Amino acid sequence: MTAPLKVLCVVGARPNFVKIAPILLALRAHREMAAILCHTGQHYDPELNDRFFVDLGIPRPDVSLDVGSGSHAVQTAEVMKRIEPVIDTQRPDIVLVVGDVNSTLAAALVAAKRGVAVTHVEAGLRSNDRTMPEEINRILTDQISDLLFTTEASALENLEREGIPRERVRLVGNVMIDALHHNLRRAVASSEILMRQGGNPAQGFAVLTLHRPSNVDDPQTLRQILETVREIGQELPVIFPIHPRTRSRIESGGLAPLLAAPAIRAMPPVGYLEMMGLVRDAKLVLTDSGGLQEETTALGIPCLTLRDNTERPITVSDGTNTIVGSSPAAITAAYAEFRRTGGKRGRVPALWDGNAATRIAAELAQWAGGLAAR
Ligand code: UD1
Repeated sequence: MTAPLKVLCVVGARPNFVKIAPILLALRAHREMAAILCHTGQHYDPELNDRFFVDLGIPRPDVSLDVGSGSHAVQTAEVMKRIEPVIDTQRPDIVLVVGDVNSTLAAALVAAKRGVAVTHVEAGLRSNDRTMPEEINRILTDQISDLLFTTEASALENLEREGIPRERVRLVGNVMIDALHHNLRRAVASSEILMRQGGNPAQGFAVLTLHRPSNVDDPQTLRQILETVREIGQELPVIFPIHPRTRSRIESGGLAPLLAAPAIRAMPPVGYLEMMGLVRDAKLVLTDSGGLQEETTALGIPCLTLRDNTERPITVSDGTNTIVGSSPAAITAAYAEFRRTGGKRGRVPALWDGNAATRIAAELAQWAGGLAAR
C-alpha cells in the first residue's frame, strides 16, 4: 500500500472555516488521504474564530501560526514567513487553500515556491474590481494553483480567459452550501436571538452585515448606509451583527447613535448556527458579504448586495440576489422594489446540493492515483 496523500489544509478567516468543515469531513472519509489543518490566526477573536470551530465541529488545528491583524503586507508576509517551515517539516503532497483572504494567497505562494502542489477551492470567481483586496488574492492564487475547484460556470470562463489550462479545473459545486446542508437543522431559532435582544419574534425582520473596506472605512459612506437602513428599520426591524472592523469604524466615526433599537438591533458578531437561523427566518438580507449572497440563494431569501459588483454572478442570474450598490437612493429604491414584489425569487444553482466536498475529495484521490502511477 502506498502512503496516503498528505493534504495540508490552510484557513485564516471566518469564511474559510465554513468552507473547510465539509472538506475535512470528506477528506477524512478517504483512507488514501491524510488531512492536516493549519490555522494562520488571521481571525482570532472568539466570536470570529473559536465559535465557528465549535459550531461547525472543526477539529482543533494541528498547526497554529497566530499571525493576527496588520496591514495587508504585514499580514501576508507573516503568514508566508510562518508557514514556510511548516511546509518544510510536514512535507505535504498538496496544499489546499479556500476562498480569497490574505491567508489564502500567502499559503499558496509559499507552497508553489517550495515546489508543493496547490489546490484552490472556490477558484475563478471574479468581481473584475481590483480595488477589492480579495480580487488580487483570487487572481494570483489561481495563477499558481495546480488543481482548481469552482462553484459556478462563470468561473470556468474567467479562468479560461486568464490562460489557465482547462484540464486543471473542475466544476464541483459549493462547499459553503455543503456546510449549510450539514448544519441547518441545528441552526438556532431566530426567535431566541430576537428575544435575547429585546425584539419581538412575531414581527418580521431583516438582517444586515457590513465589513467591506469600501463600505465601512469611509465614515461618510458608512453614515449614509446606516441612515438609510435605519429608515428601512422603521418598517422592518433590522438585526445587525457587527464585525469588529465595522464596530471600530462606527465608534471612531461617532456613528453609534444611529444604531438605536427598535429600528436597528445591533449586536456582536454571531456564530454560524445563529447566523444561519437568522438568515433562514429573515424576510430580507442586506449585505456586502460574499458567503451570504450564496447562502441566501440556497435558502431562497431575497438578498440586497450593498456593492457595485459581485464575483458570484450566478446568485443574481439564478438566485435571489440583487446588486444594489451603497448609495442611499439605490438602497431605498431596492427596498421599495422588495416591498412591491415581495422580494426576488430564484432557484438553487446546479451542484449546490451538499455534495461538493465529496466531489473534491474524489477528485483529489484520483489526482493522487495519477501521482502514484508516475
Ligand atoms: C477578512 C477578509 C475578507 C473576509 C472577512 C470575513 C482579507 C483581505 N479579507 O476581512 O475577505 O470577507 O475576513 O470576516 O483577507 N479584527 C478583530 N478581530 C479578529 C480579526 C480582525 O478585531 O479576530 C479586526 C482588526 O482590527 C483588523 C480588522 O478587523 O485589523 C480587519 O481584519 P482582517 O483580517 O485584516 O480583515 P477582515 O476585514 O476581517
